[in-house]
Amino acid sequence: MTRYAHITGWGTHVPEKVLSNDDLSQIVDTNDEWIQSRTGIRQRHIASDGESTASMGALAALRALDVAGIPPSEVELIIVATSSPEHIFPSTASLIQDHIGATKAGAFDLSAACSGFIFAVNMAAQAIRTGSINTAIVIGSETLSRLVNWQDRGTCILFGDGAGAFVLQASDQPGGVLSAVMRSDGSGGELLTIPAGGSKLPASEETIAQGLHYIQMNGREVFRFATRVMAQATEEVLEQAGLSLAETQWVIPHQANQRIIETAARRLKYPLEQVVINLDRYGNTSTASIPLATVEAVEDGRLKPGDQVVFVGFGAGLTWGAMAVEWTGPLPKAEKPSLWPYRFRNLYLLYTRLRSGALRILRFLEGIIWGRQR
Ligand code: ACO
Repeated sequence: MTRYAHITGWGTHVPEKVLSNDDLSQIVDTNDEWIQSRTGIRQRHIASDGESTASMGALAALRALDVAGIPPSEVELIIVATSSPEHIFPSTASLIQDHIGATKAGAFDLSAACSGFIFAVNMAAQAIRTGSINTAIVIGSETLSRLVNWQDRGTCILFGDGAGAFVLQASDQPGGVLSAVMRSDGSGGELLTIPAGGSKLPASEETIAQGLHYIQMNGREVFRFATRVMAQATEEVLEQAGLSLAETQWVIPHQANQRIIETAARRLKYPLEQVVINLDRYGNTSTASIPLATVEAVEDGRLKPGDQVVFVGFGAGLTWGAMAVEWTGPLPKAEKPSLWPYRFRNLYLLYTRLRSGALRILRFLEGIIWGRQR
């Protein structure tokens, strides 16, 4: 039996706090007119002190599971694509696994910057198609506001915080993820980078004084690269899927810059009305941008089951990729599962925190007993 990987659930979470271009002009020497005309961005959401990549990702994941109609305990794999992980390790995915009580799931992070969400959905789809698992969650979550230099007007105007998630499930019905293209060119690594804080340049007083722990970007070069690869990757992935551009209802690109998206659409001769764009309200949310745009298109009725859609993105690495998908919607269920985790999420998250605390106590007690036995 051929197995297919369908996207059967979706969810997002964005912080309440909004930072407008006018607000930004109080922080750095910029203005609304410059930002809107060069990027298309009007505002972005910014995480509050209590929010993080894992907390936002967990809420997006619970919402996606609610849409799919499956409980967290059924999830077998969690992949978090993020450019702003909580730590180098443990992975943000493991933290989210604990937050949502996905007791059966393996979890890991995937680092491919803004292309990461496409790469991660492809990895989850491959695991499902091979029969290794039946159910996965892929999350794109970012708190980039903590990694930008708020004195650098070339970068701080671009980025925003938020999270989006897809649930993928196995089915014998054709559809779901049809094809994917993943590419990388490390020779352009220095064009978009956070130089310090890793093993090459560990954080030190000197790196901090030089601001090397912030995002550094050569905007013009990234712009040129992006406009070139977006059209190329879209054509390539459609060819792999055996589809023509005219047969697709939607292209959902990484939301980095309105001008990049318009240039790519022009190169493809694709109508801009069929390109989903919401970067005006969220800015560039890196790995969260494609799910944030997709979920908006589903919720306002644009993206419907049976539609052929292309996701396409680019980012640091350099990386780029595209994916062709036949949009599905939730799979029919034999029986209605309990869906309280998202609806009563405060209560549910309290339960998972208590569960996590109990596991820590158990580990502590085990340590004492183990110590006595030696
Ligand atoms: N407000 C006002 N003026 C500004 C600002 C600002 N926020 N930023 C730069 N300027 C000035 C510059 O100082 C420069 O002035 P000068 O001519 O006197 O020297 C002028 O505006 C033009 O600067 P450029 O950098 O050439 O502006 P450009 O038109 O290239 O726009 C931008 C800059 C918006 C960053 C653009 O290059 C871009 O969008 N690049 C792609 C970036 C991107 O998509 N990055 C995300 C990748 S995804 C990931 O992996 C995270």
